[in-house]
Amino acid sequence: MALPDGEIRLRRPAESDHARLIRVVDDWWGGRRLRHLLPRLWLQHFTGTSWIAETPDGALAGFLIGFISPDDPALGYVHMVATNPNWRRRGLGRQLYGAFADDLGRRGVRGLRAITWAGNRQSIAFHQALGFHVDDGPGTAHVYGVTAYPDYEGDGEDIVVFRRQG
Ligand SMILES: CC(C)(COP(=O)(O)OP(=O)(O)OC[C@H]1O[C@@H](n2cnc3c(N)ncnc32)[C@H](O)[C@@H]1OP(=O)(O)O)[C@@H](O)C(=O)NCCC(=O)NCCS
Repeated sequence: MALPDGEIRLRRPAESDHARLIRVVDDWWGGRRLRHLLPRLWLQHFTGTSWIAETPDGALAGFLIGFISPDDPALGYVHMVATNPNWRRRGLGRQLYGAFADDLGRRGVRGLRAITWAGNRQSIAFHQALGFHVDDGPGTAHVYGVTAYPDYEGDGEDIVVFRRQG
């Protein structure tokens, strides 16, 4: 079911949103403890390229934390994207990515990058549906039925790297 017009509003996050994001992160990622991936600095220094999605009554429906690569200003990177489990499969994740890509496209970004844990099937399906291709370059291996970088962060975790033009 698509999002009815006007039902969700997108805005830039503020530092004051940090507490409410932290409260939902572990739950929205299915119980994984991931809140350490969202220290306050993301809501201090990356708000100009990130998005919050809210219902008309101000309830949190989703968020996307991303940035323009300081090393390659033609590249946008999505650090975290998630939607409220009650709002999934209604086009909100696509809408958040669309806002991010359109905004960065106007600022000269020509490619997007994101990563996910190799076991995160919904994230892999989602990114592929959005036109991302799975990096299969040197160093990748087939794990969990997907091509991933084993031990990507040196912590034993296998990571899928997504790339998309524009
Ligand atoms: C991944 C996530 C952000 C998708 O959000 P969403 O609002 O449900 O996404 P959309 O409704 O815009 O989905 C767009 C398309 O992606 C694909 N997709 C999304 N979720 C999927 C799933 N669980 N299984 C298969 N395909 C899926 C579908 O093709 C979908 O289009 P369709 O519903 O018309 O078939 C959401 O499931 C989530 O927050 N997951 C937990 C956090 C996470 O893993 N984030 C990504 C890694 S940082």
